[in-house]
Amino acid sequence: MSIPGGIRVKLALALLGIVGGSLLAAYAIVVPSLERNLVNAKLDQLQRDAEALAVNYAGLDAVSQRRLEEFVGASAFVSNARVVVFAVKDPPRNDVLLSLADSSAVGGVEIERDPVALAAAKVVGTVRARTTREGREYAEVATTLLSTGNVLLLSSSLEDQLATVALVKRRLLYATIAALLIAAVLGFAVAAAHARRLGRIQKAADRIAEGAFDRPVIDNGNDEVGQLAGSFDRMRTQLAQLDLARKEFVANASHELRTPLFSLAGFLELLADEDLDDETRREFLVTTRAQVDRLTKLATDLLDLSRMDVGRIRIEREEVGLAEVVSVVAEEFGALADASGHTLTVEADDDAWAFADEERVQQIARALTGNALVHTPSGTTVRLRAERRDARVAIVVEDDGPGIAPEHLGRVFQRFYRVEGGHASGSGLGLPIARELAGRMHGTVTVTSRPGETIFTLELPAEVEIPARPAA
Ligand SMILES: Nc1ncnc2c1ncn2[C@@H]1O[C@H](COP(=O)(O)OP(=O)(O)OP(=O)(O)O)[C@@H](O)[C@H]1O
Ligand SMILES: [Mg+2]
Repeated sequence: MSIPGGIRVKLALALLGIVGGSLLAAYAIVVPSLERNLVNAKLDQLQRDAEALAVNYAGLDAVSQRRLEEFVGASAFVSNARVVVFAVKDPPRNDVLLSLADSSAVGGVEIERDPVALAAAKVVGTVRARTTREGREYAEVATTLLSTGNVLLLSSSLEDQLATVALVKRRLLYATIAALLIAAVLGFAVAAAHARRLGRIQKAADRIAEGAFDRPVIDNGNDEVGQLAGSFDRMRTQLAQLDLARKEFVANASHELRTPLFSLAGFLELLADEDLDDETRREFLVTTRAQVDRLTKLATDLLDLSRMDVGRIRIEREEVGLAEVVSVVAEEFGALADASGHTLTVEADDDAWAFADEERVQQIARALTGNALVHTPSGTTVRLRAERRDARVAIVVEDDGPGIAPEHLGRVFQRFYRVEGGHASGSGLGLPIARELAGRMHGTVTVTSRPGETIFTLELPAEVEIPARPAA
């Protein structure tokens, strides 16, 4: 559908304006200069003839009327102009000159009042001009004949020249009309083609806005409209991915929340049974407590993730002693390590100071240490290290467990990803949160793993003002 004042009308009007304007400019420049040039050429030719005739006239000494008439007749033939010789009384009376001889049989008083001849009589020299006599245009040159003081006038009609100018004017007018018509049709057609392409992109944008990401935005043009369509299509793919990720996230989160909730509901029902002995009741309470803990951790993780997604997580920038962090975390996990039959060791460089958020660094260290303890069998040794690495510092969590198979290694940082058949089950949010948090602190979390050795490394920028390493 075309919108009033839409691109079609605008482009057609713009083209019309350009074509009309340039033709008008051409008309304004070409027509007057053509007319001027043609008239001047005629005047030049008349002047040359008049000067040559004046010389010839000087050769005639005592000029009889008959000789004069022969002279003007011959001169008119040679110069193809009306030739008149005027007698000049000094000064010309009432601006009328007396015609002594006239090559034209027409004669008349008009010629005796000829302004060019009169001007030549007054200035005593040559005068040239374009004049109008009896509604017709003439090119005229008059020159004073020095031997007698008479004035010789050559007058030639400008009919041919003006006819040529009129023809050019007409042709230009036809060309203007034709060009305007072509411009209007062409402008409209080109704009219509563009408007159609833009219309398709607009429809695609509307579809995307309504959440339908399946149909690609196609435009095969190489121009800006084609590029716009390309950008729209990239946006569509991105939005489709985001939409899918969002749906997956909601589905996964609901699933993760439902499992402990179902189990809690079940245990609460069992606990309500009055015949339950104390021992079983205590066991149920412990399990219920574990489910509540799991739910609390899950809710905290989900909150962290959604805060990070909308950029509403606060990250402090402070000096963080990594030696302190690893020893605190090792202490926290000491009981768990003992209970699960793991050996937990700590090593720390004293100058491993990071520029980061202490609580968040602890949170990452906890996630990595927890993983090394719960996803490996008992008897595994877990080593926690705080290291200084030039301008960076690192917390390394290393275990000698069975490792993570290469096909899973690249995916353990995805949200909700867990290695199937793994040693323990979590919700698969620990590592993605750790990696995101590290990124917010300009750090990284990386992993290398092979059977018997899994190393997770949190690397962070070192605090600038680090106390010098004591000499060994
Ligand atoms: N040290 C490790 N050794 C073997 N497998 C590991 C180790 N660390 C992580 N994994 C695997 O990577 C998966 C993802 O870890 P992640 O911390 O993201 O989730 P989770 O521990 O399962 O759950 P959550 O941390 O949210 O409670 C784990 O399920 C586990 O299979
Ligand atoms: Mg974990």
